[in-house]
Amino acid sequence: MPASRLVVLVSGSGTNLQALLDAIDAHPGGAEGFGAEVVAVGADRANIAGLERAEKAGIPTFVCPVKDYGSREEWDAALTEATDAHAPDLVVSAGFMKIVGKNFIDRFGGRFVNTHPALLPAFPGAHGVRDALAYGAKVTGCTVHFVDSGVDTGPIIAQGVVEIRDGEDEAALHERIKEVERQLLVDVVGRLARHGYRIEGRKVTIQ
Ligand code: GAR
Repeated sequence: MPASRLVVLVSGSGTNLQALLDAIDAHPGGAEGFGAEVVAVGADRANIAGLERAEKAGIPTFVCPVKDYGSREEWDAALTEATDAHAPDLVVSAGFMKIVGKNFIDRFGGRFVNTHPALLPAFPGAHGVRDALAYGAKVTGCTVHFVDSGVDTGPIIAQGVVEIRDGEDEAALHERIKEVERQLLVDVVGRLARHGYRIEGRKVTIQ
């Protein structure tokens, strides 16, 4: 079985991307290895650590800033084509901070995975860590899920739980969530690639 082709989308530091790259490096290959390879990394902005990580690993990159396009639809179409050019089996949003549009979901729905720093359906959106703290939640965590046309509403694949400590600030909590999140994402992507999966309604089964 050949390795599944991954396109990873990033907007920032790219530590989740790095965790995937490290896991693949440690066990390259298809069924006999990690099961997937990163064939390209895309971003919505230039000059970010996530892109540097890709370049250092010799992986092709592409950048689609929203402001370079006349409308959100045009941006979405360009992002779709730039991603599709790498013929991905799976697309992974690893800290990609833009909501993609209909075009992208029509093309990659059912094979587009996102990681979110909260226990969905609680605290969706761009500030999952801050919102959980502000709400006074006692536990939070991370969710790896398939992306649908809503914001963080797609079928859940796996979740990791993190207890919130008294007096902890957003940065410290996010860092502890990310430790769990990186392992969860690596585990999930590897299993999806090696074993295949079914999505029935909201239920995801890794075969
Ligand atoms: C991760 O915690 C990810 O869940 C979050 O951004 C971080 C990216 O970290 N994504 C969102 O909040 C999306 N709504 P990284 O760039 O170091 O991988």
